[in-house]
Amino acid sequence: MAHFEKPAEGSWTEHYPELGTGPVSYEDSISPEHYELERKAIFARTWLNVGRVEQLPRAGSYFTRELHAAGTSVILARGTDGEVRAFHNICRHRGNKLVWNDYPREEASGVCRQFTCKYHGWRYDLEGACTFVQQEPEFFDLDKAQYGLATVQCEVWEGFIWVNLDPDNRLSVAEYLGDLGAGVVGYPFGEMTQVYKYRSHVGANWKLFIDAFAEFYHAPVLHARQAVSDESRKLQESGYEALAYKIDGPHGMVSSWGGMAPPKDLQMVKPIEQKLRSGLFGPWDRPEIAGLHTLPPGLNPAGSRSWGIDSFVFFPNFMLLVWAPGWYLTYHYWPTSYNTHIFEGTLYFAPPANATERLRQEVAAVTFKEYALQDGNTLEATQMMLETRAVTAFPLNDQEILLRHLHKTARDCVSAYEQDPKSPYTPVPVPAVS
Ligand code: FES
Ligand SMILES: [Fe+2]
Repeated sequence: MAHFEKPAEGSWTEHYPELGTGPVSYEDSISPEHYELERKAIFARTWLNVGRVEQLPRAGSYFTRELHAAGTSVILARGTDGEVRAFHNICRHRGNKLVWNDYPREEASGVCRQFTCKYHGWRYDLEGACTFVQQEPEFFDLDKAQYGLATVQCEVWEGFIWVNLDPDNRLSVAEYLGDLGAGVVGYPFGEMTQVYKYRSHVGANWKLFIDAFAEFYHAPVLHARQAVSDESRKLQESGYEALAYKIDGPHGMVSSWGGMAPPKDLQMVKPIEQKLRSGLFGPWDRPEIAGLHTLPPGLNPAGSRSWGIDSFVFFPNFMLLVWAPGWYLTYHYWPTSYNTHIFEGTLYFAPPANATERLRQEVAAVTFKEYALQDGNTLEATQMMLETRAVTAFPLNDQEILLRHLHKTARDCVSAYEQDPKSPYTPVPVPAVS
């Protein structure tokens, strides 16, 4: 059931009794054993977003992704038929990693007509078929047709490329993403092809960084110095309240206000923002894209005039942020151990028409980086101290509902897996009361 307005009585959290309101444990973020279970229960079984179709512009375009949490490396390739496919990045001869450049643990990308193994020269076409075996007669009745690359389920949804490592998965991406995914279908993602990307190694559990982006309760405090001092004081005094929260199965979203793009009064923002008409919320002037005139129904669910941004937390590790001024941002959190992960923040804008527009985008990109660095440092400090287990129960407020939901979803996923490791992952609805 959808809740677009805060109820007259009670709270967002109390709409979902299963979430509870008591203090929560963060053992799931500091336990190596729990992380090993998450790898199998979550990352090896759910749909994972690995990129965008623009990264595979033509037949032969490919890129690899190192999915430590899912225990593999995958190749994403566009075939001569235009289809996007995914394969395990392993040669069928003796198991060498098939696609890599100088360093076997690093990701690679490019354009090719076929994949050739560096070890003994076996070749595979873009559809994964084995096309050449070095000294084939030396083998024993070897039938090349039986030695195609091991496939991985792969789907394109709204231009986003997804893989699922569980061969028994029967859910489409659209089914997996449910109502929250359906609500953004039709947004002009494909027209926003100017990309700015950050990638960083963070010394914290993957869920802790999602926590930091799934609540804005911290924003007026942790990011206080990002605003001019008068504004900063006002923001801290008034605190933060979202326009709306929504939870659907394993996924959640928060809709937020965005009065700074443009601000009511220019003095409210820093000089560079005044001059360039841009800031954290992106360039203030909307790009001319037809698809921005009418937004898909899932955006700005509260119908607020001061709407600024919707942040979707698509379980397990993909966040999609759609900003009112007409651009979007994605976050990926790729675990590398129980207390480390690789964070990727990618900003997507309409191609700039001139140098000024380009600079406006750069301002948004560097402002975002500054915020993310402030968040990232705090996460490492949090991880360190959680691991002491000196305190083991932590109170979460109503603006932290998505955190409560994320950690519960991850724990439930692990429990379901422990009870029945053979069954594919099935999203479980979170019952709501009105
Ligand atoms: S391992 Fe790839 S050709 Fe031998
Ligand atoms: Fe933040």
